[in-house]
Amino acid sequence: MSLPFPQSLCHACAGNRYVRPGRGGVYLLCTRRPEKYLGQPVLRCPAFEPALEEPMPAAKRTAPAAERNKAPILAALAPRLPAAARVLEVASGTGQHTAHFAAALPGLHFQPTDADPENLPGIQAWTADLPNVAPPRVLDAVTGPWLAADVVYCANMIHIAPWAAAEGLFRGAAGCLTPGGILFLYGPFRFHGEFLAASNAAFDESLRARDPRWGVRDVDALDALGAAVGLERIDTVALPANNHLLIWTRSAA
Ligand SMILES: C[S@@+](CC[C@H](N)C(=O)[O-])C[C@H]1O[C@@H](n2cnc3c(N)ncnc32)[C@H](O)[C@@H]1O
Ligand code: SF4
Repeated sequence: MSLPFPQSLCHACAGNRYVRPGRGGVYLLCTRRPEKYLGQPVLRCPAFEPALEEPMPAAKRTAPAAERNKAPILAALAPRLPAAARVLEVASGTGQHTAHFAAALPGLHFQPTDADPENLPGIQAWTADLPNVAPPRVLDAVTGPWLAADVVYCANMIHIAPWAAAEGLFRGAAGCLTPGGILFLYGPFRFHGEFLAASNAAFDESLRARDPRWGVRDVDALDALGAAVGLERIDTVALPANNHLLIWTRSAA
C-alpha cells in the first residue's frame, strides 16, 4: 500500500516501512524506529537515509491562463518568426508556452529560462520529449546570463517584477539578439497613460497593492527603454482578454 501522505520524508527514504490500514486511519510501522506506530507525515527522522532510486520525475504544472492564451499567441507569433530562429524565452514559468510553440514549430530551436530555479523541473517535464527544446536554464532578466538568440520572447513578467526587470530585459535582449533580431513581449499594457480596459486598470491596482514596485507598464516607457538600446517597436497586435503582443526589432546595422 502506498503512503497516503505525499509530503512525508518516508517517500524518499531507504527505510523499510509498512502501511497498515486500521481503525481511525492509516498507520505506519518502520523497522528503523522503535515506536509501534508513527504519526504521519514524518517530517523529521533521525533514521532517514536517502533512497538510492531515481527521484520521481517532477510533475507538469499548469496555469489556466497559459492554457487559454497559448493558441492566440502562437497564431500571432508564427507568421513573424524567422525560419530556423533560435528563440530565447525569458520567464518561462510553467513551460506551457515553450512546449506549445516548439511542438507547432519544429524547425525553430527554443531555450526556456526562468529566474526561479524551482520552476526548471516543471518546464523540463513539459518539454523533455521535444527535440527542438534545450534543457531549461536559470536566467534573471536583471542579471542574466544572456544567451545569443534571433528572437527573445517574454510573456507576463514585467508587470509582476520591479521596473529593473523591464530595464534588464531590454538591455539583455539588445545585447544577445543578432542584428535584425526580434523582441516579443506579451501581457497587459497601458497605452500613452491610458488603460484600454477597466479590467486592466483593476489588475494594475491589485498588482500595486501586492507590491508597490509592480504594475501594468506603459508602452511609451517601454519604447524609451528600447530606443536607449537600439530596439525599435515595429508592431502591436491586440489579443484576447485585453492583452497585446508588442514587437521590437534590433536594427540590422
Ligand atoms: C506570471 S509568470 C509568467 C509565466 C509564463 N511566461 C506565462 O505567461 O505563463 C511570471 C514568471 O516570471 C518569472 N520572473 C520574475 N522575475 C523575473 C526576472 N527578473 N527574470 C526572469 N524571470 C522572472 C517568475 O519566476 C515567473 O515564472
Ligand atoms: S527511517 Fe524514518 S523516514 Fe525512513 S522510512 Fe522509516 S520512518 Fe520514514
